[in-house]
Amino acid sequence: MTDVLPNQTNRAIVEKEEMYRNIVEYSVEAIVIHVDYEIVYINESGAAFFRASKELLIGRDVLSVFQPASHEMIKKRIQKGMTGNELAPLIEEKVIRADGTTVEVELYCRPVIFGDRKAMQTVFRDISIRKETEKILRDREKLASIGQITAGIAHEVKNPLTAVKGFLQLLKESHSHPYLQTMENELDKALMTLQNLLQVSKPDLQDEPLVPIYFYKELESLMLLFQDKLYNVEVEMDLRDPEKWILGKKNLYLKAFFNLIKNALEAISEKGKIKIIHYCENQWIHIQVTDTGVGVPKEKLNMLGTPFFSSKADGTGLGLTQVYTTIHEHGGHISVDSKLGEGTTFYIRLPVNR
Ligand SMILES: Nc1ncnc2c1ncn2[C@@H]1O[C@H](COP(=O)(O)OP(=O)(O)OP(=O)(O)O)[C@@H](O)[C@H]1O
Ligand SMILES: [Mg+2]
Repeated sequence: MTDVLPNQTNRAIVEKEEMYRNIVEYSVEAIVIHVDYEIVYINESGAAFFRASKELLIGRDVLSVFQPASHEMIKKRIQKGMTGNELAPLIEEKVIRADGTTVEVELYCRPVIFGDRKAMQTVFRDISIRKETEKILRDREKLASIGQITAGIAHEVKNPLTAVKGFLQLLKESHSHPYLQTMENELDKALMTLQNLLQVSKPDLQDEPLVPIYFYKELESLMLLFQDKLYNVEVEMDLRDPEKWILGKKNLYLKAFFNLIKNALEAISEKGKIKIIHYCENQWIHIQVTDTGVGVPKEKLNMLGTPFFSSKADGTGLGLTQVYTTIHEHGGHISVDSKLGEGTTFYIRLPVNR
């Protein structure tokens, strides 16, 4: 009876240790333990996060996962963390994974005892989705406020111009003069620009009914409109999931995809390729429009969608504003990836109805 108890206690301790080990091992957080910067332990989520096997990661210098510019700062934090008992405040950093991709993380460090050694535990939390959502919201707010201002101005300027046009017509009836027709033509152009601006900056003004739209079919038909411009351009259509549809304002959408394809074609000066992809995943319809055109300089990427931003001599800079506002109005997302001299891809995600 006397030696049964210690055995039971021992077993209980071993079981508890196993339980805690499993909690850390299978935690959803990526946990790394390092001694003197050398990684001595990494859990399952950690290995998956860094896209490498545990064997490859254990023994590596923990600083090597950070960008060189951050090494000194991280080193100081680890040194400070090892001496103090407080949990260092969370920081946001970029780390490099085994496959070379970088990802934004939130991380905190805390000293722990590992075996019999004093070690440091670092927890990495992937915040790339949160960052992307924050950026989308910021861009959307920016676009919404620009849209409101431009719509306000367009409205104010359009009314007096329409009055001038009315008087000009009256004048034409009583006095004929060759300049009057030129004046009217120029006025019509100005009014058309304002009308376009109003349309793109306030798409909700258009009370088009919501109808089921099968993009699979519409994208094919849209391409036909560009037949005469496809002389030097190869078109690849990878359209899947034809039965999926969304409820939306069809004319706005057709105009939006027309604008995207038109931009793609205009970006290709000589020979090139346009690829259109359509598929459904996780209740979203994904549409991608890729071209092998001139691309957009990195510092200009943020400007895409802003009214009147154009690099073309005869461009209005309203095409993409219409695209962005249409997608956002329908609860969708749009993002762009571009490399100067290589090409551009617009990624669109729309909530599916079936
Ligand atoms: N596929 C693309 N490749 C390279 N640059 C692009 C692409 N799409 C848009 N851009 C850039 O974004 C700018 C704005 O595009 P947007 O469609 O709003 O206006 P635009 O094409 O200049 O004029 P409009 O659409 O009135 O003809 C373009 O002038 C171009 O610089
Ligand atoms: Mg355009």
